[in-house]
Amino acid sequence: MDLNLKGKTAIVTGSTSGIGRVCARQLAAEGVNVVIVGRNDERGNKVVGECKAAGADAIFCKTDITDLGEVEATVKAAVDKFGKVDILVHSAAAPFLIMKLKDLPVDTWDSAIKVAQYGAMYFVKALNETMTAQRSGRIIIISSDAGRMGDAYQPVYSGAKGALIALSKSFAQDLGPAGITCNCICPALTVTEEDLPMLIDKYGYGTDEGKKKLTRVYPLRKLGMAEDVADMAVFLASDRAGHVTGQTISVSGGFTMM
Ligand SMILES: NC(=O)c1ccc[n+]([C@@H]2O[C@H](COP(=O)([O-])OP(=O)(O)OC[C@H]3O[C@@H](n4cnc5c(N)ncnc54)[C@H](O)[C@@H]3O)[C@@H](O)[C@H]2O)c1
Repeated sequence: MDLNLKGKTAIVTGSTSGIGRVCARQLAAEGVNVVIVGRNDERGNKVVGECKAAGADAIFCKTDITDLGEVEATVKAAVDKFGKVDILVHSAAAPFLIMKLKDLPVDTWDSAIKVAQYGAMYFVKALNETMTAQRSGRIIIISSDAGRMGDAYQPVYSGAKGALIALSKSFAQDLGPAGITCNCICPALTVTEEDLPMLIDKYGYGTDEGKKKLTRVYPLRKLGMAEDVADMAVFLASDRAGHVTGQTISVSGGFTMM
């Protein structure tokens, strides 16, 4: 299947680690030039190297995505370097604590909401002119099954992720007439290179028994990998998904079915 992605440009938020990093690499492997967005120079430059090794050009733009000025500067840098932006993947998320609302420190609430929602809104606002002018664009938002189901131990995160689902439908309706699609991907617990040691230490994921316990709620009896999420992002970014918009797609081994 020809995805027709070669020569396109993507901005990927949260791509100095985890799922965003793998999305960036897999887009690069399809010939997409990638703008790595994050706050850590060393990790950002490492991912730039990985994308170049995968076959495309890449730059790192150090950006706090909760700052509109920084987001606008990143979009400008992307257009200056590559001439256009075709794809946004919004994968950034603030670290979260697993606890009920009554125990969750109030000073962690703002960043969960701001990184998720303001990050998405700032990028979509900043990209509106360029994507509308080119009459095409792909916006892919990484939400979570927690945003579809709610999770008693992740209340603020669940709310922020649920809001992203609504936001993406709003973007899809607003920007559809300009040929821009917007879809949400919802992972459940997903193995990333960075989180693997924690999954092994905290949940015994390195043993058969630990794996069985951790995966029993998943019909496919396995955890998703960052690559599974990135595969869906690459498909949604491609010409093959041109008639898909406003959709919320779980990539979670059947954890949610709706
Ligand atoms: N890994 C999972 O199990 C899982 C499950 C469901 C949903 N998700 C979602 O997938 C996405 C990626 O998750 P991940 O596991 O790769 O996490 P991750 O922590 O590795 O990646 C998130 C990235 O966002 C960056 N970030 C945070 N605040 C930022 C800011 N203000 N400006 C710029 N960058 C900022 C972090 O530095 C980090 O690099 C997130 O949206 C997460 O909610 C992950």
